[in-house]
Amino acid sequence: MLPCASCLPGSLLLWALLLLLSGPASPQDSEEPDSYTECTDGYEWDPDSQHCRDVNECLTIPEACKGEMKCINHYGGYLCLPRSAAVINDLHGEGPPPPVPPAQHPNPCPPGYEPDDQESCVDVDECAQALHDCRPSQDCHNLPGSYQCTCPDGYRKIGPECVDIDECRYRYCQHRCVNLPGSFRCQCEPGFQLGPNNRSCVDVNECDMGAPCEQRCFNSYGTFLCRCHQGYELHRDGFSCSDIDECSYSSYLCQYRCVNEPGRFSCHCPQGYQLLATRLCQDIDECESGAHQCSEAQTCVNFHGGYRCVDTNRCVEPYVQVSDNRCLCPASNPLCREQPSSIVHRYMTITSERSVPADVFQIQATSVYPGAYNAFQIRAGNSQGDFYIRQINNVSAMLVLARPVTGPREYVLDLEMVTMNSLMSYRASSVLRLTVFVGAYTF
Ligand SMILES: *[C@@H]1O[C@H](CO)[C@@H](O)[C@H](O)[C@H]1NC(C)=O
Ligand SMILES: *[C@@H]1O[C@H](CO)[C@@H](O)[C@H](O)[C@H]1NC(C)=O
Repeated sequence: MLPCASCLPGSLLLWALLLLLSGPASPQDSEEPDSYTECTDGYEWDPDSQHCRDVNECLTIPEACKGEMKCINHYGGYLCLPRSAAVINDLHGEGPPPPVPPAQHPNPCPPGYEPDDQESCVDVDECAQALHDCRPSQDCHNLPGSYQCTCPDGYRKIGPECVDIDECRYRYCQHRCVNLPGSFRCQCEPGFQLGPNNRSCVDVNECDMGAPCEQRCFNSYGTFLCRCHQGYELHRDGFSCSDIDECSYSSYLCQYRCVNEPGRFSCHCPQGYQLLATRLCQDIDECESGAHQCSEAQTCVNFHGGYRCVDTNRCVEPYVQVSDNRCLCPASNPLCREQPSSIVHRYMTITSERSVPADVFQIQATSVYPGAYNAFQIRAGNSQGDFYIRQINNVSAMLVLARPVTGPREYVLDLEMVTMNSLMSYRASSVLRLTVFVGAYTF
């Protein structure tokens, strides 16, 4: 007789099938063919119903659950649960009883908990035990009874994955933003540096930070400028300064000679001159300044670029001296009859290359006789015709330079004035001995 499959507990059915397949080899089987009295753990044979019946361990085992746990009987075993736990009893459901895990001890704790050695339920760290399903891009956070998958800082959950947030899209930085995995960094344009909040940019004072200006440095917003001291110009590199050769710029900077110096220039004058107003040269009047070496018996005569010591007594026989620069030929002396009655010494100085014609000296009759006529002429010293006389009126005339002359040069001109009075048959001649020094320069 075969037991019907539908009315046997599953484990008994399996056992019975195994017995059937093995065939009637065992003498026991043939001897006691109706005695199916062995059941799996947790079940016992019920001779009345001829079925294996669940054992209620909660009743049969003393202290099946310890402490605060309550005992719940279950097919093939029992559960210990906290007293507060609610139990959904489907023992009376219509379907077949739930499968009984044969050798496995069931977990008596709620989901997310497991019993420990003291048989109390403790939280399972799903993150540590790799029992979670967080993505590699996610962080696993253990919670009591469960766990949570979250995105790290700087990441955002898009679908199942954590994706880096591009913070740069949100204009966190004043100048430039560099997105980094999970974060971002602000950068500043050259000439700026990050401010204390790491987002705004503040100007760098390059001048205080060793800017490579050779001479002067000016900080400006975002950059700096090099400048040079006066007399220097900025090199093409923008940093170094080179001396300006002012002298090469213009020949009018100095009247005589320009000397370039680092950062400046200076004007120099020839000997006998002094600098006037930085660029002009002025003749030094050695006679006035006392810088001459003329003796007591000499008179100092200044000219452009120097001076001359002339003997105070310049009168030559038969002339006699009547004053510092006047020699007379006494009428009483027969040698004086054909000579100019007086010779007056005068000195003057002119510069080189004057534009011509140039009035250089005016001759004036000192004594005027009524009705007299004065005639003027150059009697000596003008062999090359560099000068001529222009009569102004009866008593005066002008010495005119006719040609440009270049010094250093010296003329001694005898300018004769002949005084005539036809009514009185009077004729007198006097000479102005004019020494003209022509300086070496145009100044
Ligand atoms: C700015 O960045 C520096 C270096 O990364 C950091 O030490 C500092 O705390 C940051 N400051 C602010 C305001 O975030
Ligand atoms: C100048 O000389 C002329 C001619 O001899 C004479 O007529 C005239 O009066 C003189 N003039 C003066 C100011 O002496």
